[in-house]
Amino acid sequence: MSEIAVVTGASGGIGAAIARLIHEKSEGQLTLCLHYNGNKEAAEKVSAGIPGSFVVKADLSSADGRKALLDAVLAKGTPYCLVNNAGIDKPHEPALMIDEASFDKIVDTNLRAPLFLMRDFAKEMARNEAGVIVNVSSVLARKAVVGSALYRASKAALEAMTRQFASELGPKGLRVCAVAPGFIETAMTASIPEDQRAAIKKDVALGSFGTPEAVAESVWHAIENQYLNGAVIAVDGGMSL
Ligand SMILES: NC(=O)c1ccc[n+]([C@@H]2O[C@H](COP(=O)([O-])OP(=O)(O)OC[C@H]3O[C@@H](n4cnc5c(N)ncnc54)[C@H](OP(=O)(O)O)[C@@H]3O)[C@@H](O)[C@H]2O)c1
Repeated sequence: MSEIAVVTGASGGIGAAIARLIHEKSEGQLTLCLHYNGNKEAAEKVSAGIPGSFVVKADLSSADGRKALLDAVLAKGTPYCLVNNAGIDKPHEPALMIDEASFDKIVDTNLRAPLFLMRDFAKEMARNEAGVIVNVSSVLARKAVVGSALYRASKAALEAMTRQFASELGPKGLRVCAVAPGFIETAMTASIPEDQRAAIKKDVALGSFGTPEAVAESVWHAIENQYLNGAVIAVDGGMSL
């Protein structure tokens, strides 16, 4: 039985880059579990480039989906690393248009899912007193952009849960950190109209969107640095300054 690194949303742009980098940097010591929800083709393409990896389908907004992921991982080995990367940013709704159904959708995916995955994976990691969890937040946790109220609330709460779990799990030998990307070139941002992209770039000190690989570098740093706990690492080109 091997030690496993789970990356949720590995069918997406940032998750795929994280999975590839963990495989490369761990020199194959960690077996990659590549989670996806709807995009099987993308997950299998990523898996084809990572020897020994396996894919698991699950809707993580439901308790059944989260259990399916945990069970699939335990059938293969011991979880050492969990990267809570899966997330959604839509629907975009101006503050006065916020809808209760949208609240459920965004909070279930961006907060409920990583929170309960942390709880359940950490119980398994605690048996070995070894493990690290990295949550993928967003610069929007601390920045107002029209239409992003529910998204930023979900990510701000995820950062609070990161610090809470870091505090409570540290004594058990586990670490919990987060990375907070700025605007990154993935499917999530591909539909932003050109005039809005230009306005966003003006707000970034480095003047550009980032790459999924840049986010993956920060996730790997959080995994590797054994004295990092409860940190939220901004990888946003200076957008949050
Ligand atoms: N791109 C950015 O500018 C940016 C900036 C800051 C933070 N982030 C965060 O980075 C993370 C990854 O974003 P990305 O840009 O890589 O987006 P993406 O390419 O759209 O990928 C999103 C991933 O989340 C998965 N997912 C969505 N809903 C799910 C559900 N209910 N259950 C399980 N999985 C679900 C998708 O799975 P399927 O495709 O298989 O359905 C996909 O793998 C997200 O948490 C996002 O909030 C992104």
